[in-house]
Amino acid sequence: MTLIQVVNGSTREGRFSEKVAAWVVEHLAARGDFDVEVLDLRDHPLPFFDQAPPARTLRNYPNEEVARLGRELDRADGYVVLVAEYNHGYTAVLKNAMDHTFVEWRRKPITFVGWGNVGGARAIEQLREVAVEFEMAPLRHAVHIMPDLMRPAMQSSDPFDTGVFAPLEPKLKLLAEDLAWWTTALTTARAR
Ligand SMILES: Cc1cc2nc3c(=O)[nH]c(=O)nc-3n(C[C@H](O)[C@H](O)[C@H](O)COP(=O)(O)O)c2cc1C
Repeated sequence: MTLIQVVNGSTREGRFSEKVAAWVVEHLAARGDFDVEVLDLRDHPLPFFDQAPPARTLRNYPNEEVARLGRELDRADGYVVLVAEYNHGYTAVLKNAMDHTFVEWRRKPITFVGWGNVGGARAIEQLREVAVEFEMAPLRHAVHIMPDLMRPAMQSSDPFDTGVFAPLEPKLKLLAEDLAWWTTALTTARAR
């Protein structure tokens, strides 16, 4: 079975992204056509990137921390990035992690679930451009969580009721179907 990694790109205290992760993982796993796991950047603390370009050095990692991230990313056949929007961009911690790596992402699909005043749209558009440089296939279908759902989700208690996001289920379904198609197509092509 192919593996989808849900990349949690926010590491701050009290992050909203954990609620989004719970919902996305629940939905994707229920499909049964790919394995799903969370890649939490909190588990991969890295210094600011200051090395030779990984596009040149490939898997010749400078240290075990980067190698561990590289090995994790290598296992995935596609990615759903959870996108917090900070000052109209995506998070620095996500860019830093991406800059430490390169080849691991190549020729794989990537899509996005974002949130914020415009559903993280500005940050997601920027990430689509970054994904092209990584030779990835950024997908059209993404999910944008707007303030009308963010507010009740933020107020929702622990354990989190993912039903708060129910109005966005059709969008997440489209995302998953698109992701499944591209994951199968590109996994087959990479194997050849
Ligand atoms: C440094 C910072 C900058 C922010 N800038 C924006 C922004 O430009 N647009 C937006 O919609 N929300 C912005 N927000 C609000 C975030 O959407 C909100 O805090 C959200 O919970 C962030 O995701 P997280 O909790 O998973 O980190 C910002 C939040 C922070 C902490």
